[in-house]
Amino acid sequence: MKLIVTDIDKTLHEVDFKEDDILMHVLRDANMGILAECGGSCVCATCHVYVDQEWLSKLDGIGDDEEDMLDEAYEPNGNSRLSCQIQLSESHDGIKLTIGPKWD
Ligand code: FES
Repeated sequence: MKLIVTDIDKTLHEVDFKEDDILMHVLRDANMGILAECGGSCVCATCHVYVDQEWLSKLDGIGDDEEDMLDEAYEPNGNSRLSCQIQLSESHDGIKLTIGPKWD
């Protein structure tokens, strides 16, 4: 199964994933340029991604912790999610997303 990822330089990548993978781990291991400073504890917002509109409804809803942390993300919008809070499954094959802006 594959993710379609646009990185910070606007380059497109296809990245393989397996059932039950955590999106942040897949992006980090593929060197897609996310920091994920807290290691997935939902306390840093440096794993921020923008999920293409057509795929948003296929993800589980945003939890309270993620919602609070997204307020701290750099340039969040209605497509923002924290990739450490997303568990992937077969229904996400082909999902399109863009890596969030870097923190300076
Ligand atoms: S890795 Fe820190 S909030 Fe996701």
